[in-house]
Amino acid sequence: MSRRDELVEGFTHPAVADAYIGEGITIRPGTKVFAIACAVALGGFLVGFDATVISGAVPFIREYFGLGGSSGSLKLGWAVSCLGWGAMAGNVAAGMLSDRLGRKRLLLLTSLLFLASALTAALSENFVVFVMARICGGLGVGAALLTAPVYIAEIAPARTRGSLVSLNQLMIVSGISLSFFSNYFLLSLGDDCWRWMLGIQAIPAAAYFLLLMLIPESPRWLLSQSREQDARAVLEMVHGAAAAERELTDIKSGLGQQVRRFALRELLTGRLRKVMIFGFGIAFFQQATGINAIFYYLPTIFAQTGGELSSAFGQSVFVGLVNVGMTIVAIWLIDRLGRKPLLCAGIAGMAVSLLTIGWAFQTAHTGIGADAPVSHSGLVLVAIAAFVASFAVSLGPVMWVMLSEIFPNEERAAAIAVVGFWNSLVSASVTLLFPKELATWGPAGTFFCYGSLAAAGLLFIVLLAPETKGKSLEQLAALLAPAKTSR
Ligand code: BGC
Repeated sequence: MSRRDELVEGFTHPAVADAYIGEGITIRPGTKVFAIACAVALGGFLVGFDATVISGAVPFIREYFGLGGSSGSLKLGWAVSCLGWGAMAGNVAAGMLSDRLGRKRLLLLTSLLFLASALTAALSENFVVFVMARICGGLGVGAALLTAPVYIAEIAPARTRGSLVSLNQLMIVSGISLSFFSNYFLLSLGDDCWRWMLGIQAIPAAAYFLLLMLIPESPRWLLSQSREQDARAVLEMVHGAAAAERELTDIKSGLGQQVRRFALRELLTGRLRKVMIFGFGIAFFQQATGINAIFYYLPTIFAQTGGELSSAFGQSVFVGLVNVGMTIVAIWLIDRLGRKPLLCAGIAGMAVSLLTIGWAFQTAHTGIGADAPVSHSGLVLVAIAAFVASFAVSLGPVMWVMLSEIFPNEERAAAIAVVGFWNSLVSASVTLLFPKELATWGPAGTFFCYGSLAAAGLLFIVLLAPETKGKSLEQLAALLAPAKTSR
């Protein structure tokens, strides 16, 4: 069957198919798959939104629940980071439930968790209820973070899978950015504005639930449940009859090889040891350099430079937009420049920016070279934007791309789950400790610490990162984790 017939047989209008072929464009998601992927990627949006929306609430819940001062700082850290601890439980639960319940039902469950969490946190009168509500949202975050990309990868045709899965990444940073926007606009509602900031998420969560009702179950999951007729119907609906038959055969031949249980030990010893060390290392540096401390406490950090709270919220919006813009740049560059150059340039930029933030706070506090203390608020804003830009073009997206590439087919899912859990653990610890570090070391000491970790991260990448650009997954497996040959 010709490429044109394939496209038409699938889901593309004949005139559009002619245009693609005429222009030699071979990678183009079909409309139905694209719409389904967009609907599911709204889960990524909710993950980003739910995680960072707290940044706007921090100044208000600190007052409302009495979490101020050095004594309250760990409690404040707990209020902010509890979502991360819930997300770790969500990671683990997703691994078990997405096979048992199916992808679609698990995603529906996450939308209900997002909804319940938003409403309960918004209405909470005491600290325990607030924390429980945020943990409940965290369960949704952890489960959606792993299940949305799996669903998209399982329904997408092979040739567009990469870009459709990246859509989920883009939605995460869009969710982060929109949470800064909505916090900025809701700030005018006064002392109770934090309730609106957290509650407004009920709207996209409800929309997510309704959209998910319209999508089919993952054909790969249906086949794993021996529901071949249902799987065929879904594949025909999204890819067309001919392509569906081919996909069905491919999936069936792959299924037998997939199911294999691993002892954790197996991942840490033998041929996987080198890639696991790299995976753990890059996941550590992605979080230990403070991205989520910055995102979750952004207006608080800006307020430390002595500015108005409202301008601190405005600056957060700007930083959110930088994050989205540079993520798009990364998606564009990653297959052109390669992973390692992006990582090296980006982490070097992160180190310089973090050390600059530390310097700005240090000199502002001591007032070096001036009679009155200097406020370097402009410099802090520029350096934070530069840090986020450097992260968004490197460690942010590149870590996830490399984790999906460096492990061999058989072990990929298990290895990513373990490294992803570790990444969430480091993130939750960093966001838990951040207020305590601010109270103990001050902002300068805290950012010098993150800057030094970024410098160490650069060294780690230069010494240990492989280049994965342009190689097939099978070539990478042979190169990075060669099977032991028996003599
Ligand atoms: C990280 C998240 C972070 C986000 C920021 C992701 O790659 O894993 O922890 O919040 O980037 O854009």
